[in-house]
Amino acid sequence: MKILPQTSLKSFHTFGLDVQAEKIIQADTVQDFIQIWEGYSKEPKLLVGEGSNLLFCENFEGIIILNRLKGIGLNETDSAWHLEVAGGENWHDLVCWTLDNGMHGLENLALIPGLTGSAPIQNIGAYGVEFKDRCEYVDVLMLETGEVRRFSCDECEFGYRDSVFKRQLKEGTIIVSVGLILPKSGLSNLEYGPLAQLKKNPHLTPKDVFDKVCEIRREKLPDPLQMGNAGSFFKNPIVSQLTAKTLKEKYPKMPCYEISETEVKLAAGWLIEAAGLKGRVFGGAAVHEKQALVLVNKNLATALDVISLARIVVETVQGQFNVQLEHEVRFIDKNKETRLASL
Ligand code: FAD
Ligand code: EPU
Repeated sequence: MKILPQTSLKSFHTFGLDVQAEKIIQADTVQDFIQIWEGYSKEPKLLVGEGSNLLFCENFEGIIILNRLKGIGLNETDSAWHLEVAGGENWHDLVCWTLDNGMHGLENLALIPGLTGSAPIQNIGAYGVEFKDRCEYVDVLMLETGEVRRFSCDECEFGYRDSVFKRQLKEGTIIVSVGLILPKSGLSNLEYGPLAQLKKNPHLTPKDVFDKVCEIRREKLPDPLQMGNAGSFFKNPIVSQLTAKTLKEKYPKMPCYEISETEVKLAAGWLIEAAGLKGRVFGGAAVHEKQALVLVNKNLATALDVISLARIVVETVQGQFNVQLEHEVRFIDKNKETRLASL
């Protein structure tokens, strides 16, 4: 365990906002987490991975705990590679490590920022693959009892940008490691539009898919080191078939993805762009020019700039399409999680 000398959160979250915490503590072992929770039982506490899905709405009047648990275990069978990865391992480094060691299955999930221990929380996903597709189990420290409990993939109740860790297991739990299963027979998923062209290559390797995913991502998504952001700011809204049909009649070009007999997923980025908000600026915050679903810290934005811009986006999309956008990014106020609608 290490108490850091600094209290600025600027370099501990990807929006790069100039906000402070009372204390920042790095946890290197499971025991560290238990000690911190016991030692600071009264103070507000927030566990942070790489802060790539967070918006600090103001200074945090409590303790930020950085997850730095390290280690990767590998068990190979005839049919699959089974990995046990500590929660503090960087996700993209893990993807690279698997490919460098001849394992495939994670290539579509390249370049997603953040830690492996954070990946199950919103069931990270990109280019046709989600964390749940490779998850065998998740090991969770139950702070109340100090025991580590194993949750099977089914018990994690994964959904689109959702899991039990956003609901029943949101409080008093820390994901300490994840178990992944990478079947040797598995083929890369090439169903996402721009990846489909790779199907033409008879000698396609997982590394080719990885390279293409990185290329697409670098083209569309801003690098947080150059321009602060937290990826997609909103979730793609899920609406009824009837709502989608009515909108499609009015906006024939609107992308729609049928996800069940009753539900359709819309593209929030398209709705925001079609509402004329691409490039819209509020103070130092802006709707990204290349991907309208991403709000960026363009020029020394304050938290209030980002919050105000997010509100403009929600209200404008609601006004034009009668579709409610929900933010994917987790909003943190001075001592706990909050929501845009509550601010
Ligand atoms: P943080 O932002 O630090 O934490 C997120 C939440 O999880 C917080 O509430 C925190 O308290 C909690 N938490 C963190 N660690 C633990 C733990 N070990 N146990 C319990 N709770 C914990 N997401 C996608 O799904 N797909 C994408 O394609 C994608 N692209 C992105 C692109 C960019 C440029 C950026 C900036 C973000 C993107 N994201 C994407 C979002 C982000 O990468 C993921 O949500 C990621 O999993 C967050 O990891 P983190 O370690 O930064 O978590
Ligand atoms: N679109 C626009 N204008 C825009 C942005 C998108 O018209 O400014 C349209 C695109 O042309 C496309 C559709 O919207 O027809 C979907 O766009 P894209 O494929 O870029 O994906 P997305 O829905 O914007 C989602 C995830 C991303 C993930 C990509 C790739 C969510 C909230 N976002 O974005 O995840 O990387 O698909 O799979 O589901 C994240 O969660 O932070 C994230 C970046």
